[in-house]
Amino acid sequence: MLESEPDTDNLHRDIYRLFRDYFEKAERKRRWSVDHDIPWDQCNRSLNPAIADVVETFCAVELYLPDYLGKLIPQVRANRGRAWMLANWGYEECKHSMAFEDWLLKSGARSEERVADLHAAVFSHEWDLPHDDAVGMVCYTSFQELATRIHYTQLRDVVRRDGGCPALERALSLVATDEAAHADFFRKLVGLYLEYDRTGTLEQIRRVVNTFQMPAVHMLAESRRRKQQVLDMNLFSVPIFFDQVLAPILAGLGVTRQELRQKTVREAVILTPSSPD
Ligand SMILES: [Fe+2]
Ligand SMILES: [Fe+2]
Repeated sequence: MLESEPDTDNLHRDIYRLFRDYFEKAERKRRWSVDHDIPWDQCNRSLNPAIADVVETFCAVELYLPDYLGKLIPQVRANRGRAWMLANWGYEECKHSMAFEDWLLKSGARSEERVADLHAAVFSHEWDLPHDDAVGMVCYTSFQELATRIHYTQLRDVVRRDGGCPALERALSLVATDEAAHADFFRKLVGLYLEYDRTGTLEQIRRVVNTFQMPAVHMLAESRRRKQQVLDMNLFSVPIFFDQVLAPILAGLGVTRQELRQKTVREAVILTPSSPD
């Protein structure tokens, strides 16, 4: 575990600095209001209903926030940069489900009752961490945040092509900008872990790449239909993952695909227990 390694103090100091830099920029440049920064009087009430279905799916994924925070914070409670980041991240993420839910209601796409049903459905299942390792979760989050940004910007383009909706387009732009900032922070955090433990961090990246999927969608009712709608609108796909998520993250980290594919000594021993020491 990294926490028992001699460089832990320096690593935690560097992570806290990274968080302070992120936080200062967020405070200065990126704060926005759900109530005042989205033109709620400009909702297009005649968009393709499939768009509202996808907004509902995205809203549901964002609604799992209590599980995300409840499971992630205990992993890092002694690591102030990461714990404080999760507190700030949670504040930013809570606005995302509010913005999407407000659009569903104000556009007339969903009734109060239907939204209440969505809440009940979400909280009837508990989301669990896809990786029990704190470094693995940073790697997962860096991929997931960039993937989320792509889902939202692609949906904004679909809305524009479908006749436009100033309220939804603005909401998606604001949320996507937050997701881009999250992706940038978590990618830099993976970079720090690589500096301190390249072999172990590469193992975690490899695990994440081999098993990646978006959080919580599989837990929702009609999950197959919801996933198919995302594919049909070309909001996300395997090629998009490789070209627009994996490639830029690896490039930003200075990791080649060849290096990622190489089995580390640690893994080789685990995978081939009969091999000589
Ligand atoms: Fe979000
Ligand atoms: Fe995010």
